[in-house]
Amino acid sequence: MTEGFLKRYSFNIAANDFMTAGKGSSTIKNLLKSMGINANIIRRIAIISYEAEINIVIHSFGGKLHCDLYEDKIIIMSEDVGPGIEDVDLALTEGYSTAPESIRELGFGAGMGLPNMMKYSDEFDITTSREGTVIKITILL
Ligand SMILES: Nc1ncnc2c1ncn2[C@@H]1O[C@H](COP(=O)(O)OP(=O)(O)OP(=O)(O)O)[C@@H](O)[C@H]1O
Ligand SMILES: [Mg+2]
Repeated sequence: MTEGFLKRYSFNIAANDFMTAGKGSSTIKNLLKSMGINANIIRRIAIISYEAEINIVIHSFGGKLHCDLYEDKIIIMSEDVGPGIEDVDLALTEGYSTAPESIRELGFGAGMGLPNMMKYSDEFDITTSREGTVIKITILL
C-alpha cells in the first residue's frame, strides 16, 4: 500500500443476493460515523459504496467491496470476477442500463449508478475485461 495507509475493510458480495445487498455500504457508513468523519463526506461515500455494491449484485458474477482508510483520503474499491463491461463510455452515460425488466421492477436500472459514483468522487478509475471489473474511487478528506 502507499503512503499514509491505515486500514482496509473488505466485504464479499454475492451475485443476485438482494437480501444482503447494501450491508457492506451501511457498515462502512457506520464505521465512518464512529470515526467522526465529516457528514458530507460520509454521504458521498455511502452513495458510492452502495452503487458499487448493487452493481456487483446485479451485473456481475460476484466480487468484493473494499474501504481503504488513509490519513488524508478514503478509497472505495469494487472488484468482481466478470463478465466485465463491454462499452465503458456508454456505461458511464446517464440513463444507460442493461438491467432487464425483472431488475427494473425492483427499482434498479435507471442507469444512474456509475454516473453518480463519478460525480461524488474526487478520482474515479475503472478497468474492465471479461475477467472482471475494478473500480477505484478516491475521496479526499
Ligand atoms: N460490475 C459490473 N459488471 C458488469 N457490468 C456492469 C457493472 N457495473 C455496471 N455495469 C454495466 O453498466 C451499466 C450502467 O451501470 P449503472 O450503475 O450506471 O446503471 P444500472 O446499474 O443499470 O442502474 P442503476 O444503478 O441506476 O440502478 C449497467 O446497466 C451494466 O450494463
Ligand atoms: Mg447500478
